[in-house]
Amino acid sequence: MRLIIESDSSRGSVWAARYIASRIREKAAMTDKPFVLGLPTGSTPIETYKELIRMNRAGEISFKNVITFNMDEYVGLPESHPESYHSFMAKNFFDHVDVPKENINILNGNAPDLAAECASYEARIEAAGGIDLFMGGVGEDGHLAFNEPFSSLVSRTRVKTLTYDTRVVNSRFFDNDIDKVPTLALTVGVGTVLSAKEVLVLAFGHKKARALQQAVEGAYSQSCTLSALQAHRHGIIVCDELAAGELKVNTYRYFKDIEKDNL
Ligand code: GLP
Repeated sequence: MRLIIESDSSRGSVWAARYIASRIREKAAMTDKPFVLGLPTGSTPIETYKELIRMNRAGEISFKNVITFNMDEYVGLPESHPESYHSFMAKNFFDHVDVPKENINILNGNAPDLAAECASYEARIEAAGGIDLFMGGVGEDGHLAFNEPFSSLVSRTRVKTLTYDTRVVNSRFFDNDIDKVPTLALTVGVGTVLSAKEVLVLAFGHKKARALQQAVEGAYSQSCTLSALQAHRHGIIVCDELAAGELKVNTYRYFKDIEKDNL
């Protein structure tokens, strides 16, 4: 696993955006096949999306040959609800870049048969050739997408019950009223994310420090689903100084040292 420690979230976000853009360009130089990009929601990736939008407008990167798959979506929330992940993605990314609408895939949390929707999502990912790069965030409890603690580390896309803790954290988007936060979500599994050729996770702010510490220094364990990244061949976490705050000094120095000449 690589751990990129940037001074603040703005620098970390720019690092991530440039990395994604470089990967898209590299694939485009080798083949006509589309680049398949996994995408998260949450407050963490917003600045990365802004930088990708800026690069797109400046002609530095095109998403015309990119297929996207989002990580998750609430169950039972209308797509038009301002806090649905459909709305989030339109507002923060898709409405501002040249990705073709037909290339956008987001789980349908209102599908009549949720299990069938999840199975078809996995099939669509496979039909697209698998995910080249999955960008993700991390929950305060170490969850990846909506794979709450003790989710199977080989899980695939499915319906998940949200923990009380996650609903409390996310209630800030629902008038601070936990009763308005959906109790279920559809989410890609830990195994779905790990099947991507590369995984790039962002962790910013002191609230993520404990999750990051567990994921990097802790055991490979279902109690922190992000720790599954330890078993991935190309896992990268980009964090800021605040999120790195719970790491041992030696761990911090190790990653600073080996990454000092990179990008
Ligand atoms: C939600 C999402 C996760 C995201 C997490 C952290 O639970 N399902 O994909 O990583 O929130 O959100 P934030 O970036 O706002 O801290």
